Amino acid sequence: MSDSKRVLLIVAGSIAAYKSLELIRFLGARGIAVRCVLTKSGAEFVTPLSLAALSNDKVYTHLFSLTDESEMGHIQLSRSADLVVVAPATADILAKMRAGIADDLATTALLATDKPVMVAPAMNVRMWEHKATQDNIRVLTERGIMMIGPDEGPMACNEFGMGRMAEPAYIAEAIEDFFGAHQRLKGKRALVTSGPTYEAIDPVRYIANHSSGKQGHAVARALAAAGAETILVSGPTQLPNPAGVTVRNVKSADEMLAACQAEQSLDIVVCAAAVADWKIKNASTQKMKKNGKGLPDLELAENPDILATLSRANKRAPLIIGFAAETEKVVEQAIEKRKAKGCDWIVANDVSPGTGTFGGDANTVHVIDGAGVENWPRLDKDEVARRLTLRIADHFKKAEV
Ligand code: PMT
Repeated sequence: MSDSKRVLLIVAGSIAAYKSLELIRFLGARGIAVRCVLTKSGAEFVTPLSLAALSNDKVYTHLFSLTDESEMGHIQLSRSADLVVVAPATADILAKMRAGIADDLATTALLATDKPVMVAPAMNVRMWEHKATQDNIRVLTERGIMMIGPDEGPMACNEFGMGRMAEPAYIAEAIEDFFGAHQRLKGKRALVTSGPTYEAIDPVRYIANHSSGKQGHAVARALAAAGAETILVSGPTQLPNPAGVTVRNVKSADEMLAACQAEQSLDIVVCAAAVADWKIKNASTQKMKKNGKGLPDLELAENPDILATLSRANKRAPLIIGFAAETEKVVEQAIEKRKAKGCDWIVANDVSPGTGTFGGDANTVHVIDGAGVENWPRLDKDEVARRLTLRIADHFKKAEV
């Protein structure tokens, strides 16, 4: 990396702390300077000496160290980097970050920093799934803290599930992406649909669904972060506009289709919106009243299929990706949907009640293309978006050679 970037790496107390040694090596190889803060419990797993040797820098451990305070000061330490990374981030440190507790050097630095923060959670599956942790993750994500992982797999405690820290190479890639090193999709133009559509019954009532737009917005954010010129056509949501993305707000499926068709020369289309399949044919222009003569005579009409229309257009984008929201036979139905709609890939997700896919922060997806099915672990929606973006970038890279 040309102009040297600096990371403040906070190593907390988890068996995954050994992976932070490898992370420092990967970052060093990419020209990213690392300065480490080691927590007391982190020091039970790795030594300050190993971190110092790999980072070629002093390792900071104590809040009340006279030498450290006179040399640098914890406030300055917290702001001396371009990015603060917590890896591994334990359930404990995440809870403290959420609550604003500052009872050691690491948590004080996290509270005092004015720099972006990225965390790589690592903990036992039950701790990860605990409502308290999930609530902390939600609040931290809302505050703009970037989450990398965790992954699913076997754990040091002999259990299996979500909670393994993401692999160091992957975290290093995410850090590089954050610094804009890759810009893997620079020069590409992407269109993403997101959120629900509202189909008017009358001026005050509508048919809608539970989509929050979180998944679609995350995809738009990730594509823009990878350098693609990104247009987000969004149904009504409560979400802020993703940075660096051109947003076109629409309400109905008809409006969404028109906004999509207005965009030309697209390389990538991702249809993550939950478009209503039906609209009211005889929507009233005035508020409908209960008139004591029975139920209103509402007639349904089919909405245009945006994904199918864009996939079958003459000058179609070279890569069109749909999402399939299913409540049963998720993969089988998505395979059929990919064929029926004519898109290149389809990302299947289970939206049965209880999965929390609609409106929640996590998603378990299966990516289906002409070659087969890739089953991804349950991931934060931002992580789904990041991995999908990497897959898209790989696709274009392979097409170039
Ligand atoms: O918004 P969130 O709360 O984060 O939830 C995310 C999500 C579950 C909405 C998202 O991950 C998802 O699955 N989006 C697609 C939802 C959907 O409408 O699926 P479907 O199986 O009904 O449609 C298949 C595909 O056709 C989708 O790409 C959809 O955008 C598209 N479609 C459907 C109907 C229609 N009239 N026009 C379309 O373009």
